[in-house]
Amino acid sequence: SSNQMWGGRFASGPAAIMEEINASIDFDRKLYRQDIAGSLAHAAMLSDKGIISSEDRDKIAQGLKTILGEIEQGQFQFSRRLEDIHMNIEARLADLIGPAAGRLHTARSRNDQVALDFRLWVKEELQRTDTALTGLIEAFLERAGEHAETVMPGFTHLQSAQPVTFGHHLMAYVEMFGRDRSRVRDAIERLDESPLGAAALAGTGYPIDRHQTAAALNFREPTRNSIDTVSDRDFALEFLATASIAATHLSRLAEEIVIWSTPQFHFVTLSDAFSTGSSIMPQKKNPDAAELVRAKTGRINGSLIALLTVMKGLPLAYSKDMQEDKEQVFDAAESLELSIAAMTGMIRDLKVNAQSMRAAAGSGHSTATDLADWLVREAGLPFREAHHVTGRAVALADEKGCTLSDLPLDALQAIHASITDDVFNVLSVEASVASRKSFGGTAPDQVRSQIAWWRERL
Ligand code: ARG
Repeated sequence: SSNQMWGGRFASGPAAIMEEINASIDFDRKLYRQDIAGSLAHAAMLSDKGIISSEDRDKIAQGLKTILGEIEQGQFQFSRRLEDIHMNIEARLADLIGPAAGRLHTARSRNDQVALDFRLWVKEELQRTDTALTGLIEAFLERAGEHAETVMPGFTHLQSAQPVTFGHHLMAYVEMFGRDRSRVRDAIERLDESPLGAAALAGTGYPIDRHQTAAALNFREPTRNSIDTVSDRDFALEFLATASIAATHLSRLAEEIVIWSTPQFHFVTLSDAFSTGSSIMPQKKNPDAAELVRAKTGRINGSLIALLTVMKGLPLAYSKDMQEDKEQVFDAAESLELSIAAMTGMIRDLKVNAQSMRAAAGSGHSTATDLADWLVREAGLPFREAHHVTGRAVALADEKGCTLSDLPLDALQAIHASITDDVFNVLSVEASVASRKSFGGTAPDQVRSQIAWWRERL
């Protein structure tokens, strides 16, 4: 049989394989709420402008509300033959209210309809992401407050560099997730224009009011160019780019959790709730949630690249290629939501092994920079010379198998005569951390003021 929507010029129906490659209902059914909201706003506007009668508008509204209930109660029969969510709903509307259903699509195309539905969905998803990131940031602020004075080794090249506080390290992630949240908010701002009324690509001859439907659907304003409106998917790309960057931050953190929770580091212990065991090795407690967060980043990044690649060769305006936008976005959204939720749980539950951190912070001559700084400050050496002198002290400590602060004063004085007893005051990790009071530095008071700054911006 030929198609109920466009059967006029067709003599026969599609091949089975055509239906299979063409149908999007298996995934775009997710857009039912947005589709119905768009149709309600459109029908109300058509009636206000005298394009359809108020009786037809009421029948359409009644029918759409019935359909919404049917879908939400799982009673709706989705059909692949009807291709997508738009035609599934319209066909059911015709069953329910008869010929009036055929007036709903006046001054509208599936091209502006799908652009509308998808924008509405992405906008809501961005709002959910904003909330989720805020919850994650809260969890970090809480833990950072507890550990503003907990000393750990800071790393570069994953080699001990200088001691920092665990609170400071956690606050580094707050900055990242804070930027992610602001990218999410920027994306909402740019996306906040209604596509409805762009029609197929050229606009319409009917006297529609796009400002009315934009306002009814809570958009700031209608889009300005109808060709762009049905061609544009950069709101989806921006969601995916934002999601990829956030996922990349989550992945780095996940990687650190994997490292920190090894018996060799023993900086943190994951709660049982966020670990798994081994079916063979009874001693194991594995950081699977962190590993999966790290892996989902690959999926999310893949979605971004997939959609960029779909879009890059498309001439204006609509091409069916663009139907491939949705699965990428849905999959990335689900992965990101899960990742943020799992990470929030892991951070909230994380047991911090302060003693192991403290012990590691004291190894690897992590206060060597403090010795060099002392030589600059107290003995007036140029920094480059102080660096060299300190390097010799480090070599000596290595030779003796001890720490810098274990070196006897006369051994240090043999390296540079100006060194006095006072130097031992700067060689402890606590002294090192406390001295780094520069704005944004690791000293506990700096960390506390970073936390306070963020608390005001939650
Ligand atoms: N299912 C389609 C999509 O997701 C809806 C738009 C179809 N428009 C068209 N001209 N075939 O893109």
